[in-house]
Amino acid sequence: MNMRRWTSWVMSTVFFFGNPISAKFLDCTVPASSAEHCSDSLANITVVESGEFIIAKLQCYGCPTTARHEKGGHEITHEENALFFNISLSQNHTQLLLNSKPIFPSLASPRPNLYAPQIPLNYSFSSLSTTIKCTQQPCGNFDGKCDCVADNLGGVRLSYDYYTFSSSASGGWIIRVDALGGHNGYMADPYVDFDSPLQKVLQINIEQHQNGRLEILDSTRLVERIPAPAESHQEMSTWDKIRKFFGFEDDMAREDGHIVYLISESDYYGRPGTLKHLLHEVWGNYPWRLIAIIVGSVLGGLTLIYGIFRFVTLVYRSPTGQGAKNARDEEYKLEERGRLLDGEEEDTRTKSDEEGRLLDEDDEETEA
Ligand SMILES: *[C@@H]1O[C@H](CO)[C@@H](O)[C@H](O)[C@H]1NC(C)=O
Ligand SMILES: *[C@@H]1O[C@H](CO)[C@@H](O)[C@H](O)[C@H]1NC(C)=O
Ligand SMILES: *[C@@H]1O[C@H](CO)[C@@H](O)[C@H](O)[C@H]1NC(C)=O
Ligand SMILES: *[C@@H]1O[C@H](CO)[C@@H](O)[C@H](O)[C@H]1NC(C)=O
Repeated sequence: MNMRRWTSWVMSTVFFFGNPISAKFLDCTVPASSAEHCSDSLANITVVESGEFIIAKLQCYGCPTTARHEKGGHEITHEENALFFNISLSQNHTQLLLNSKPIFPSLASPRPNLYAPQIPLNYSFSSLSTTIKCTQQPCGNFDGKCDCVADNLGGVRLSYDYYTFSSSASGGWIIRVDALGGHNGYMADPYVDFDSPLQKVLQINIEQHQNGRLEILDSTRLVERIPAPAESHQEMSTWDKIRKFFGFEDDMAREDGHIVYLISESDYYGRPGTLKHLLHEVWGNYPWRLIAIIVGSVLGGLTLIYGIFRFVTLVYRSPTGQGAKNARDEEYKLEERGRLLDGEEEDTRTKSDEEGRLLDEDDEETEA
């Protein structure tokens, strides 16, 4: 996002059915700014920068929130809240990002973890303004990400149903993300299904231009949930089990093109039943480094064995390079080599000649 644009960004709000009802210059962090609208609550969809930056507020019905205590520790609370979605584009406008994760033209594989901060329903333009200001500052968190969403009520890692389809012949696309459930990141706390019948689905409308550039349309909105088709409960094939073990089968791809990513069974080190999970349980924090070491050792060992094999075959190669044809040839060669070796040292030859003579004499004596 361009810094200069931020200093006087235009905000327009769009209501549930997608009609922009107001547009205002708003930077509530500047004291002189018109405080008029700063305490207003955000609508479900807030167009911050037309075409490239929209904030969506998806009410999360009955979803628990998390209060972090200053002195450490936390507590599960039950404030009314909404999921905060930052809908933006990559720098060259070729990828659509949802809370900084690329979701279009394709959802990454393995499926991205989507984290959604939770905000109060009356989240104000002032809070959003503070949030956006914060994202423009460098911040030194361990993962390089800022915890910028002001006045949040915690956040969740989401299970989601992702679905995309073309909306028109002229490059229009619709991307739907349904937050199916979430987990607040504290191991001991339960996973929660977001299964209220009131729960809505985030629908992002975009336009994909010929050159691949994307544009986020202001008609982005919240839509009703469509009852999910029954998931197939077929037995996994052996191949699927192997794929899952190596972490490839991240979702249940439903027949109708939905991609469902569930975190209910997973922890931070991969889902149970995957290699990553197994190794993490056994070896701690660096399973992939360990795999690299194992694979490296095995390859190194094989290379060494091959090297020895090559060395040995080189040493014992026949002078003609064709190898022994049969046992007689082999014997002949050994004799030859014996003779050559004998010729190498005068002393040895003399000695063996003498021995030969002695033997000859013995033979003669025996004969005599
Ligand atoms: C925002 O979305 C909720 C559903 O989650 C809906 O009940 C409400 O009317 C919407 N608000 C506006 C201003 O459209
Ligand atoms: C846009 O950027 C991504 C990486 O951020 C890159 O892979 C892609 O090739 C770029 N596309 C164009 C058209 O420049
Ligand atoms: C929204 O996401 C973009 C892309 O990751 C990021 O540059 C920006 O700071 C985010 N804004 C907010 C308010 O989270
Ligand atoms: C939002 O609502 C809560 C109570 O639900 C209240 O304590 C808080 O002051 C309100 N914030 C704003 C900005 O109106």
